[in-house]
Amino acid sequence: MKKLLYQLDTDSIPSVFDNVVAHDGGADVVVPYGGITPANVGPLVEGAIFTRGPKDKKNTALFVGGSDLVAGETLFSAIQKQFFGSFRVSVMLDSNGANTTAAACVAYLEQGRSLAGMDAVILGGTGPVGQRVAVMLTQAGASVRLVGRQLSRTQGVCERLSQRFGMTITPVEAADRDARGAAIRDAEIVVSTGAAGVSMLEEGQWSHGSRLKLIADANASPPLGIDGIDMKDRATPRHGALAFGPLGFGALKLALHRECVGRLFESNDQTLDAEQIFERARALLAQS
Ligand SMILES: NC(=O)c1ccc[n+]([C@@H]2O[C@H](COP(=O)([O-])OP(=O)(O)OC[C@H]3O[C@@H](n4cnc5c(N)ncnc54)[C@H](OP(=O)(O)O)[C@@H]3O)[C@@H](O)[C@H]2O)c1
Repeated sequence: MKKLLYQLDTDSIPSVFDNVVAHDGGADVVVPYGGITPANVGPLVEGAIFTRGPKDKKNTALFVGGSDLVAGETLFSAIQKQFFGSFRVSVMLDSNGANTTAAACVAYLEQGRSLAGMDAVILGGTGPVGQRVAVMLTQAGASVRLVGRQLSRTQGVCERLSQRFGMTITPVEAADRDARGAAIRDAEIVVSTGAAGVSMLEEGQWSHGSRLKLIADANASPPLGIDGIDMKDRATPRHGALAFGPLGFGALKLALHRECVGRLFESNDQTLDAEQIFERARALLAQS
């Protein structure tokens, strides 16, 4: 029986990246839909849950993507509300690659060490990737401050994360690069998840950080988010800290994304969001 993945994208044009990785992850057929919302997803979910018998339902799965994480979360939740009894299929949320990118990054940060009790700062943390990095670093035991340029937006993001995940993440306003330098001064972990191609920090702003142990940058579009890090850094010693560049954890991100798609077809009752995807990243890294 063919493995069918319905790619439900909240953007009007479905992501090619997600489509390719879905094929590489083991789906035989990937059907992309754009502009999906809770208001129009109903018939698509019905089509997925009512067509195949109990033993065969695991061969149908749903993937929620798109650039807007809040829209993705809302859609993800609406889909699950339609499930009842055995009338369900496995579903994964990875808007803008947020879960898989953050999970790969944080899994590397904690590889071979405990992050418990460490002070972490996330620059550009209000975007999809930064939000999930905040959640996973907190899950790993770090105390997290999430930095954005406007306090009201940053506070809103932290409140939403607190409601969804029941964790405390502290919002910090830093309107420009100087303010971001001040925000990381006492940090032991710095992760930059600013928008593609935006320089978030100069090398001189972090090279003297006496407490800094781990520094990571998710931005793979030049210029890098953190000056002084190389794209391919993976636990590379720099200025007394270990540095991780976007390509340093990018291979794990891709492997994880593929692996999660493959797992959707193992049973019809899987829900893959931040918690589950982070666990899979830890397991994948442990096996490598
Ligand atoms: N390595 C990988 O495998 C991988 C995979 C996916 C994504 N990425 C990269 O990960 C990063 C984060 O992705 P994302 O989708 O979460 O990013 P995003 O939503 O585009 O941007 C993240 C945050 O950056 C801040 N920002 C935007 N423009 C800025 C500017 N001019 N100056 C300072 N801050 C600015 C915004 O926060 P405020 O407005 O609140 O300040 C925004 O919420 C991106 O660089 C993306 O390319 C990497």
